[in-house]
Amino acid sequence: MKHSKRPVNRRTFLRTSLGAAAVGPLAGMAWKPYTGRGGRAEILRVAAIGVGGMGWTDLRQVASHPAVEIAGLCDVDSNNLGRAEELFPDAEPFRDWRELFDKHGNSFDAVTISTPDHMHAPIAMTALMANKSVYCQKPLTHTIYESRRLREVASRKPIVATQMGTQNASRDGKLQALAMLKAGAIGELQAIHGWSDRPAGWWPQGQDRPAGSSPVPDYLDWDGWVGVAPMRPYKADAYAPFKWRGIRAFGCGALGDMACHICDTPIQAFKLYTPTSAICEATDATEDMFPSKERVVIEFKGVKASGNKPVKLYWTDGGRMPTPQELNIRADYSLKQNTVAVIGSKATLLIQPEAGTPLLFRDGDPVDDLKLPDVPKQNHWHQWVDAAFYGNPTQSSFGFAGRMCETLCLGSLASRFPNQMLAYDAKKMSFPDFPEADKFVRTDYREGWAVDGLST
Ligand SMILES: NC(=O)c1ccc[n+]([C@@H]2O[C@H](COP(=O)([O-])OP(=O)(O)OC[C@H]3O[C@@H](n4cnc5c(N)ncnc54)[C@H](O)[C@@H]3O)[C@@H](O)[C@H]2O)c1
Repeated sequence: MKHSKRPVNRRTFLRTSLGAAAVGPLAGMAWKPYTGRGGRAEILRVAAIGVGGMGWTDLRQVASHPAVEIAGLCDVDSNNLGRAEELFPDAEPFRDWRELFDKHGNSFDAVTISTPDHMHAPIAMTALMANKSVYCQKPLTHTIYESRRLREVASRKPIVATQMGTQNASRDGKLQALAMLKAGAIGELQAIHGWSDRPAGWWPQGQDRPAGSSPVPDYLDWDGWVGVAPMRPYKADAYAPFKWRGIRAFGCGALGDMACHICDTPIQAFKLYTPTSAICEATDATEDMFPSKERVVIEFKGVKASGNKPVKLYWTDGGRMPTPQELNIRADYSLKQNTVAVIGSKATLLIQPEAGTPLLFRDGDPVDDLKLPDVPKQNHWHQWVDAAFYGNPTQSSFGFAGRMCETLCLGSLASRFPNQMLAYDAKKMSFPDFPEADKFVRTDYREGWAVDGLST
């Protein structure tokens, strides 16, 4: 494909449009040439895969780091690709990510992945196997097995920096909440409640597979979009863009979409990494789609912070939410959507990902004179770029994200068997009392789409 050559002063444009607000985690440290983990060059050459939707933000945020060169662009939608080419005329454009790796693999050090969920792991694994650093959108994966494999392979690649795209995890409020939980602000951990209003009419759930088909628009490579999933006919306004989220073949439903953003802080603070069971209450789950609303209860093995007693995460979506009393908060308090409440023996902490400041409640009332911990200013995207140079830890590395998303994939899987308690053996990644569920731990990739590291 030919790409346009427009004289854009990329660095100036990006620094003024995005970079001004971005402060790296190593603020105060002078930027040095790229001699860190890779030690190959002075610039981190990034290929961006999926550049519409959230990918458009990821592309510009990563590019606003002064040490980044956008070396490749890839999208199955030629309109989205064309828009990115206009901004980065020197980057090599591709419609097929496999070709990007095969033909252009020596020309980039790192990738961003902002495609629909079912393609995250295939592309991320291919990148890891090629020793590329990876910034991958949330949820990290589509299945339990993919989460486990990405975590395992990333752990054997100290040369690469990894980050899941939960950008709020690096915002002040979430970092403050994390520090407070780690410092024991709530006493002994008792329970976690997370909730979201999604799908909230933004995308369909609780329906049968969309019937009929439409002609594939000439700008879209539908075969590439379906990728590793079973082929189905294209239908306008049913899948691409954005509406694929509630469909099991492509997305992870409201829980998969939102719990990464909402529940990550307590899961990380308390290292809740061993889920032992999940149950989903829902009435309209279908074979093709996640339910329109649900309550999912995931139990974890006890951790030090819970006095080694098992801990339950109660998740509700589709508008269902807990009452303040269930959270040990006074009855007339007005709870907001998309929040997590972490309940302890001494207090409850409310964390609202986008609202910022965490709220601590003692004896049902908010603590007014709460002294919030100091946290360094972070930019999630730049933190990842810096990690490729300096090896600093990232907030949502695959080491953490793989663990959390394995649990969230378990929660999503439970909606296939409403009201069925699924005991989970994390060591074996299986359901000893309910083997029918085992076949959903991983999915077979479509013929011709085998992925090294995931298809064996
Ligand atoms: N972190 C956040 O706040 C946030 C917000 C929105 C979306 N997301 C995540 O970003 C991802 C994308 O979501 P979206 O809403 O932007 O979806 P979208 O459907 O709007 O956009 C996906 C983009 O990827 C392209 N694409 C699809 N398949 C591809 C493939 N095989 N190779 C290359 N490009 C491909 C599409 O053409 C499109 O440009 C999802 O995983 C979603 O969960 C994160």
